[in-house]
Amino acid sequence: MNKEPNKFKRYTVTSALPYANGPIHIGHLAGVYIPADIYCRYLRSIGEDVIFIGGSDEHGVPITIKARQQGVTPQDIVDKYHEIIKKSFKEFGISFDVYSRTSAKIHHETAQEFFKNLYDKGEFIEKTSENYFDEKENQFLADRYITGTCPNCDYEKAYGDQCENCGISLSPTELINPKSALSGNVPVLRETKHWFLPLDKYEPWLREWIVEGHKDDWKSNVYGQCKSWIDLGLKPRAVTRDLNWGIEVPVKGAEGKVLYVWFDAPIGYISATKELAKETGKDWEPYWKNEDSKLVHFIGKDNIVFHCIIFPSMLKKEGSYILPENVPANEFLNLENEKISTSNNWAVWLHEYLKEFPGKQDVLRYVLTANAPETKDNDFTWKDFQAKNNNELLAIFGNFVNRTIVLTQKYFAGKVPELNNLDEIDKTVINELKTFPDKIASSLEKYRFREAQAQMMNLARLGNKYLTETEPWKQIKTDESRVKTILNISLQICGNLSILCEPFLPFTADKLSKMLNLSKLKWKDAGNENILKNGHQLEKPTYLFEKIEDKAIEEQVQKLLDTKKENVANNVNPAKEDINYDDFAKLDIRTGTIIEAEKVPKTKKLLKLKIDTGIDERTVVSGIAEYYKAEDIIGKKVSILVNLASKKLRGIESNGMILMAENELGELCFVSPTQDFRNGSEVK
Ligand code: 2FM
Ligand code: ZN
Repeated sequence: MNKEPNKFKRYTVTSALPYANGPIHIGHLAGVYIPADIYCRYLRSIGEDVIFIGGSDEHGVPITIKARQQGVTPQDIVDKYHEIIKKSFKEFGISFDVYSRTSAKIHHETAQEFFKNLYDKGEFIEKTSENYFDEKENQFLADRYITGTCPNCDYEKAYGDQCENCGISLSPTELINPKSALSGNVPVLRETKHWFLPLDKYEPWLREWIVEGHKDDWKSNVYGQCKSWIDLGLKPRAVTRDLNWGIEVPVKGAEGKVLYVWFDAPIGYISATKELAKETGKDWEPYWKNEDSKLVHFIGKDNIVFHCIIFPSMLKKEGSYILPENVPANEFLNLENEKISTSNNWAVWLHEYLKEFPGKQDVLRYVLTANAPETKDNDFTWKDFQAKNNNELLAIFGNFVNRTIVLTQKYFAGKVPELNNLDEIDKTVINELKTFPDKIASSLEKYRFREAQAQMMNLARLGNKYLTETEPWKQIKTDESRVKTILNISLQICGNLSILCEPFLPFTADKLSKMLNLSKLKWKDAGNENILKNGHQLEKPTYLFEKIEDKAIEEQVQKLLDTKKENVANNVNPAKEDINYDDFAKLDIRTGTIIEAEKVPKTKKLLKLKIDTGIDERTVVSGIAEYYKAEDIIGKKVSILVNLASKKLRGIESNGMILMAENELGELCFVSPTQDFRNGSEVK
């Protein structure tokens, strides 16, 4: 490949540390772990020195919230989920060199040392300020303990540290209508001391490093977010919290306080490297401190600010660390057109998938890469999952490999036949074959994993087409020598596939290498029409992929429908604050009858109604036109609030309000007397 010489001697590849407060779902895999794994497997295949870092994020409010919900300790929660998550990753072939956890001793020490270092250098601002406090729970409300409306995008469920809708990083006091996530109460402000990282002071170098320096090589979604935050103006960020779960702040006067989870978690990458180095006897420092090491963070888009602005600022100010070369963050994956939601169980959980589709890890890997949300949010559907398995993996890749090996077994007792005279079609195929390793590599090096995988699949397509066009099963009757050439070339394509598919489909690569009786080959061995030597003995063929039947897909779709039903049933708004009877008694609600109804012109929702209230006949304008036709509701018994001050709506005076019930879908229905009661009866 005509490449510039690589200026990097080693690679430090990190993947976001998932919170150990729940299992892992397809959104995690597609957004972070599969692309990171593909990248690392490729780097290993080209012979680079790479460490692939993973681990569980075991601090922070999400964990304590889960523990409260379940009535157990935070330690119980992280112990349970760390194991579940670690197992899922292993089963999906995510090839971490180390999978650590932030409750590890080495991590506590590393994070404290990092803090102390910045503290001693005078980098932090020590400030007493007002923080939200829940008087009922007797607790300060940090991060996710507080929710409210995002000042940036009006999303009503923004957290105290971040809005998950628009990604902006927030301070609790910026939230509109803040509420305690513990009690639902409106919190009060109380003074407390914290240590702040003065991001505002770092703006000039952040601008130089990101806005000027990474304009062309960072993905536009990542670059764009960073630039707009920098342009909006950065503010100092507190890096300590009043919480009883986390890493103790290692300075005097900070008793009872812990490090902010987003301060300690990325340092977890460094601690994990130390842990790995201990196991392997290598030195950890070059991976983090030498300029010829390439640091790459794989994350989801909600983590961009922490990995592009806050953590690099910490590294820079510490002074001895390298900065990330790239942060190829992905957008989000949706499931059947809806946002994946852990709390609503709207997800495909890996541990469940593995039970329901045993041995089909590569199918999910393939589909998630083909649909990776690389440049925009993308969608996973079960129908598409089935189609990609049946029409691509099975019909193209599996079919080609199977036909090639079965025919070689049948005609040549499983021995690689020799290459004889080449026809034009053979030469074209061999020439094309040679272009694949570079094409795929070039996409991978640009973090374009979908494109890279599609190229790999094109190689299988090339092989499948070649076999179909040359028809060795017909030729065998008349021209054995020709069949030898065709099968030799087809086998070389299979050999190439076993190398080039490995980053994407490691289980398939393994099976295929075994069938071809090849020992582990590397990327440099690909692009070559002589991978399998004449007379080389193949193993018996087994199927690489199986058809996925409609029934299996219908079951998954049904499972999601059941979840939806359950969510709807559970999704009832909590009761409002108590009122006393006098408040209620002020409402004068009567039974009445609709005697006339007509649509208010040029509106979608409004009907003009005449109501016999028993007291009088009056006009009420009601927003029910999307659910009721005027002609259908004449004669309908209703309940009406008669002492609501009158109001003009579209120029019509409305006197009172019809009572309606509204369900979770926003549909309306009348709250009517169930018997034919006299108009004007009081509702009490
Ligand atoms: O968003 C999350 O799930 C965080 N636990 C990611 C942390 S990444 C890193 F900094 F550790
Ligand atoms: Zn927002």
